[in-house]
Amino acid sequence: MKVVVTGGAGFIGSHLAACLSDQGYEVAAIDCFHPYYSIERKERQFEALTGGRVPLVRLDLLDGERTKRWLAEFRPDVVYHLAALPGVPYSLEEPLAYIDYDIKATVNVLAAAGEAGAAHVLFASSSSVYGDRGNVPLREEMADGRVVSPYAAAKYGAESFCHAYAHLYGYQMTIFRYFTVYGPWGRPDMAIGTFLRRLLSGEEIVVYGKGTARDYTYIDDIVEGMIAALHRSGGRSEVFNLGAGTPVTMEQLLAELRKHFLDMKIVHAPERKGDVKATWADITKAERAFGYKPKVAFAEGLARTVAWAREYER
Ligand SMILES: NC(=O)c1ccc[n+]([C@@H]2O[C@H](COP(=O)([O-])OP(=O)(O)OC[C@H]3O[C@@H](n4cnc5c(N)ncnc54)[C@H](O)[C@@H]3O)[C@@H](O)[C@H]2O)c1
Repeated sequence: MKVVVTGGAGFIGSHLAACLSDQGYEVAAIDCFHPYYSIERKERQFEALTGGRVPLVRLDLLDGERTKRWLAEFRPDVVYHLAALPGVPYSLEEPLAYIDYDIKATVNVLAAAGEAGAAHVLFASSSSVYGDRGNVPLREEMADGRVVSPYAAAKYGAESFCHAYAHLYGYQMTIFRYFTVYGPWGRPDMAIGTFLRRLLSGEEIVVYGKGTARDYTYIDDIVEGMIAALHRSGGRSEVFNLGAGTPVTMEQLLAELRKHFLDMKIVHAPERKGDVKATWADITKAERAFGYKPKVAFAEGLARTVAWAREYER
């Protein structure tokens, strides 16, 4: 089976491309190496994880014609579309860039996948589409567009385009809403990545807001779920939460970190605009449709991430 992973040099994309290739799929990765974070880091993570086994195409998906031509030539059966500008804070600074990278590029991929005859498209959305709901389990049908950041608005809009293009082209559409993914090569702008880099260089860490919690999900569980969904049951165009199903409060995260960094110093700062207070995934739907069952407990996942960071983040 031929599979394309867009955003294949990114954090989740590199892990996914490597795992698909290990399982015998014919995989190609597409990435434009957007400078949102270090290009050199993207090259390193792609190389370290895929070990040269996955061909990488440097292509900006905002170029609709090139995207269409390339996909028509490769003729994938499956397209995982992960390429996007991620991150909430930057979306407050550059909202229009998110319309380009998270919506326009998605429309280009959806159309190109349809023209190329793909049978299944899987899209990376986000728990941010639920808006700020407090500490309650979030079920797929609860998203209603009342979001609190331009990033979330772009993802919610992109989801709508996914449903439309699944209808227009007749392919199967799977939309994943990830809940704060972490692990080795985790994105350097996210809380755990930022904390680890500062702790390793002996600096204090900055904690924004009070009473926050995140449903941290280990990368291997996410990748396993994304691959299991290739054989899911259910309708043509469906949305699934991929989370751990167990929110971790900031206090719990700090307590776990302190086990690894005994002299950790913390500075508190006001909450950041656009951030939600808490996320908590109800994962029943994914469990029923494709047997999704996260396995890595937070303490274990964090320990693995710290061990990785001690080796690679110096
Ligand atoms: N990491 C998380 O916790 C998380 C949570 C929710 C949703 N997501 C979504 O999952 C996807 C992957 O996230 P990630 O954490 O791996 O981010 P990432 O930034 O590491 O990966 C995204 C990749 O897409 C590439 N890209 C962006 N625009 C492109 C374009 N026009 N053409 C080609 N390549 C392009 C970037 O260069 C980057 O390598 C994103 O869509 C993100 O919004 C991630």
